[in-house]
Amino acid sequence: MASLLPGFFISVEGIDGSGKSTQARLLAGRLRQEGESVISIHDPGTTALGERIRALLLGKSEDAPPAPFAEVSLFLAARVQLLKEMIEPALARGEVVVCDRYLDSTLVYLGAGRGLDLDALLELHRLVGAARMPDLTLVLDLEVQAAQRRSDATLPADRIEAEPTTYHERVRQGYLALAPRFPERVVVLSAKPPPQDLAESCWRVASDRLMARRAT
Ligand SMILES: Nc1ncnc2c1ncn2[C@@H]1O[C@H](COP(=O)(O)OP(=O)(O)O)[C@@H](O)[C@H]1O
Ligand SMILES: [Mg+2]
Repeated sequence: MASLLPGFFISVEGIDGSGKSTQARLLAGRLRQEGESVISIHDPGTTALGERIRALLLGKSEDAPPAPFAEVSLFLAARVQLLKEMIEPALARGEVVVCDRYLDSTLVYLGAGRGLDLDALLELHRLVGAARMPDLTLVLDLEVQAAQRRSDATLPADRIEAEPTTYHERVRQGYLALAPRFPERVVVLSAKPPPQDLAESCWRVASDRLMARRAT
């Protein structure tokens, strides 16, 4: 059933180890405390199909690495499924969607990272019906080495995390270049502060934007 409240779509972006999953969890928790209905999701994945694609994309294997557009196509397939199966229905119910990574990850990992054309990547999203942009994108910015030190403490690196530092540096710069390209939705925050302090900054930005949306 369609809701009278407009839904609100937030994505959390940044290089591996910047603190996305931590902040997505804290932000979703805070929104729920404030009485919002929230779905917490991650891209690629969350749906059954998406999790299978995620395993293909991130699992280490002896296979030849995917050609860049093969990689894009897999990310896109997982994303369209997530959009149709979960994001659009939640937004129609007036809920807040908090998504750990979304299309900007493809724009920077495949665009800035592997040299694919940004407009071509956006056009592909449009062609497959995945042009819906987040209402707000929080980019958590951190030096690559600091992020790698954080990640070292957790799980073994996946296929993309295992790429050389120069790749992650291009990705970081790609994220920073998103803000001037999409000034109405992308907000860059320094990811250096401790988790609770950063969570407060994320909350301030998100609640301001959400209130502005609800006021219209
Ligand atoms: N603001 C922070 N300061 C210090 N360490 C953090 C911060 N946020 C997260 N961490 C730690 O860094 C690691 C990576 O955080 P995570 O949220 O999983 O990052 P991402 O999802 O971006 O890869 C985890 O061990 C987490 O506890
Ligand atoms: Mg994470």
